[in-house]
Amino acid sequence: MADNQQEKKSDFRYATGDAQVPWAAIGEHVWHQDLMGLVRLLVKPGEDEGAFNGALASVEEALSELCACGQPVAKLSLGDTVKRLEDEVAEFLGCKYACFVTNATAGFQIGHQFADLGPGDEVILPGITFISTGIYPPLVGAKCVFADIDPRTVNMDPEDVARKVTDRTKVIMPVHIGGYPVDMDPIMEIAEEHDIVVIEDAAHAFGGRYKGQMLGTIGHFGSFSFHEVKNINAFGEGGIVCTNTEFGECFNQARFCGVDMSRQIENWLYDVVALPTMGGPQVAGNHSSTEIQAACLLGQMGRLQEIIRIRRERAEYLHERFEPVEGLVPAPLDTDDIQSTYHLYLLQVEPEALGGDIREFKQRLSDKGVTNIPHFAPLYHFTLYTQLGYDREAIAQSCPNVEDVFWHRFTHLPLYPLTDEQVELMADLVIETAEEMKGGR
Ligand SMILES: Cc1ncc(COP(=O)(O)O)c(C=O)c1O
Repeated sequence: MADNQQEKKSDFRYATGDAQVPWAAIGEHVWHQDLMGLVRLLVKPGEDEGAFNGALASVEEALSELCACGQPVAKLSLGDTVKRLEDEVAEFLGCKYACFVTNATAGFQIGHQFADLGPGDEVILPGITFISTGIYPPLVGAKCVFADIDPRTVNMDPEDVARKVTDRTKVIMPVHIGGYPVDMDPIMEIAEEHDIVVIEDAAHAFGGRYKGQMLGTIGHFGSFSFHEVKNINAFGEGGIVCTNTEFGECFNQARFCGVDMSRQIENWLYDVVALPTMGGPQVAGNHSSTEIQAACLLGQMGRLQEIIRIRRERAEYLHERFEPVEGLVPAPLDTDDIQSTYHLYLLQVEPEALGGDIREFKQRLSDKGVTNIPHFAPLYHFTLYTQLGYDREAIAQSCPNVEDVFWHRFTHLPLYPLTDEQVELMADLVIETAEEMKGGR
């Protein structure tokens, strides 16, 4: 893998080494005060404010000492740390190419661009997901086609995908909601049969597996999110787009304005090229990320397996508590074929048994002090799509499971970082709520 990455075309990572008058980073350095600013931003006072202020003062002194005998780093964007992160991620995923970008949404754009998405094309995505899955197609005049979901997992239903394929379908975007794998085999079969590109929305799914393969590496492209609410993050924002296709050779250009450092025009440092795609040439945007974010993500990657383990244990505990309770449907757990990242805990209710649906359930739970993550709304309910001319009623009719689970059945519970006591209390209150509703109280 390392060799492969070495051979990748360079991007804007040049450095002038030990020149007497160096070029790299000709702006202001990040130094003492900025590092202190970062500490102040990221660590807030605890209960003992006095102790906190004392510790902060000693950190400031230590940082000042450190900077007095060190020197500032010049390379802050797309340097060796970004490269190291990409190498580690590619190795972890067992894929050929990984590219660190600003967020998962940028990764989707890059995948769509290599697929040569354009006006009149169609992209099939699940009715339930986050808006960024469905934002790039309309941006370039392509159409979102919303697939129904499997009510048990709230993931895309391959049978409905098959029904909605047309000769304009260029891309299918399976979304591993909450880190639980989409049934990828039938999706890949449909894609192969109709020559369609698969871009996995693996925003929640870094570290999950489907039949032995890492999520995000099964389709032609996959994109992960390291936004602040994900299992691990890159100082609040970050994304990795990955692929095993030859288009990975051009990830650097796709990330940074088509700048190609491996070739130069006359009297200039580099050339700028269009992206080679599955169709005509496409123009790249700028989705560059920083060394600082890469360092954060590298550090957090070291904790990923432990974070997933804790999440899995909690999901298993909730499963054990909820399964015997009539009217509650616990989240599916891992099997030999499937390993989730447990990014979200999917709780469903049976309105028939409870005498009320998820809206009442959530309200009662919230009144007891349990915050429910506001679950994903069907994208076609948003005004954006109506403004673009989508027929909301017709789409809703074609996605009956989306409508049913959204209005009546599902929510997501938090798993981490909670104390064991909080998890237990949450389980108690979920069960208490179900019992109250069944008892008509
Ligand atoms: C399902 C899903 N897809 C995509 C994204 C977008 O990720 P990012 O914010 O890194 O672009 C999110 C973010 O929360 C998400 O939940």
